[in-house]
Amino acid sequence: MSMNLITVLYLVASICFIQALKGLSHPTTSRRGNLFGMIGMGLAIVTTIGLMYKLSAEATSPGIGWVILGLLAGGTAGSIMAKRVEMTKMPELVAFMHSMIGLAAVFIAIAAVAEPQSLGIVAALGDAIPAGNRLELFLGAAIGAVTFSGSVIAFGKLSGKYKFRLFQGAPVSFAGQHKINLAVGIAILVLGLYFTFTGSITAFTLLLILAFVIGVLIIIPIGGADMPVVVSMLNSYSGWAAAGIGFSLNNSMLIIAGSLVGSSGAILSYIMCKAMNRSFFNVILGGFGAEADAGPATGSKEQRPVKSGSSDDAAFLLTNADTVVIVPGYGLAVARAQHALMELAEKLTHRGVTVKYAIHPVAGRMPGHMNVLLAEAEVPYEQVFEMEDINSEFGQTDVVLVLGANDVVNPAAKNDPKSPIAGMPILEAYKAKTVIVNKRSMASGYAGLDNELFYLDKTMMVFGDAKKVIEDMVKAVE
Ligand code: TAP
Repeated sequence: MSMNLITVLYLVASICFIQALKGLSHPTTSRRGNLFGMIGMGLAIVTTIGLMYKLSAEATSPGIGWVILGLLAGGTAGSIMAKRVEMTKMPELVAFMHSMIGLAAVFIAIAAVAEPQSLGIVAALGDAIPAGNRLELFLGAAIGAVTFSGSVIAFGKLSGKYKFRLFQGAPVSFAGQHKINLAVGIAILVLGLYFTFTGSITAFTLLLILAFVIGVLIIIPIGGADMPVVVSMLNSYSGWAAAGIGFSLNNSMLIIAGSLVGSSGAILSYIMCKAMNRSFFNVILGGFGAEADAGPATGSKEQRPVKSGSSDDAAFLLTNADTVVIVPGYGLAVARAQHALMELAEKLTHRGVTVKYAIHPVAGRMPGHMNVLLAEAEVPYEQVFEMEDINSEFGQTDVVLVLGANDVVNPAAKNDPKSPIAGMPILEAYKAKTVIVNKRSMASGYAGLDNELFYLDKTMMVFGDAKKVIEDMVKAVE
């Protein structure tokens, strides 16, 4: 492969990545976007192997066999994990992958500092690494380390399986946290600049250790409903880590792909912050959740009466309504009830009921989770509405059907300034004439909070697994 061909192929792969991002911006074009992404990545991998082959033939970079071995091992592990993972566990998988990108950046930076001649950074063993390259290595290694340790904490918090305190969903805060973060951040900067100007290996090692530490420190105070922002923020960090290392390796593909991931992740973080009514800079610097004094509610909630009914009662209300708005949430994904829901909506539409779906930007456990779920069941896109487009309609809606959603319809976000989710925009389901809520119990949602909506006079709770309840509703409507 000539260098010109490699450059052209990298350029084509980059265009595919841009098309992928464009396609992924809307549910109707997302499949095409994914296809572009796959083609781009396939092209980038094949071209990189070609480049490695050329370098190893010129003997400037031996070890093509190792690259292929790594590719096979990583590719096999990735395919098995992607095939096995349940949709609801996707955010953990994404956090895990971010951590791997961060670790890869750290390993490459260590290799480059230890043996710069092997990576073509210097001509011969013993030559000093130029200051410009040292700056790139400092940035790539530090961002990579923050991404790795931050993603490990995010993985633990998202999975909710581990007893370890730092892996709990609730924010972990302590006195002087922000000052310590600031001091560690400044220490990393000073050590990084010292390494840049002197090449001191001790400074490089210390800055790496501190970067691992600050990755943990900035993620532990974030918890509950704010985790979506963390996921997209770490996505952005992983992109910048890859781009930084791309500069060290002089690989244009890595620089372009890393920058695309970094900037699109930053844009997504900004959109999420807006959706959650949080400040972007507080998130980027870490710790905005620390202000929330209340952690998730404990099990010692007082028992308050709620009105409950059966699937038949709910079906009766739905068939007698003119307008129904369905609010899907995480529980719908857990129950995999989207196909049953589609059947219910079709039956209602057939009877002359106007059915719409209301999507909250952070419903479920990953960006676009509910859109993906509804698309799987082939719900018509024209019936699906984003929060800002449907919120004004709840006041005129006869029945709102809340399915496995909790935090995204919690009026505390609007009414209780002390609530950890205060200020987060919600789907204003409480404004409808009648509200039907399906969940299995009175348990709280991800943010660990009680929900006033469930206790309103106009609310009827239908307890049970979403799939079973909806299937029963379908039968009752028939
Ligand atoms: P949640 O507030 O988590 O509530 C989901 C509800 O579903 C629970 O209260 C649960 O109650 C119910 N449920 C669980 N399994 C069910 C089943 N099989 N059948 C029926 N109901 C079931 O969900 P949400 O309203 O979608 O809000 C999402 C939350 O996750 C937000 O706090 C958000 O910030 C956070 N989060 C979002 C993301 C992204 S990017 N979307 C990422 C991480 C975190 P029962 O146990 O009583 O059934």
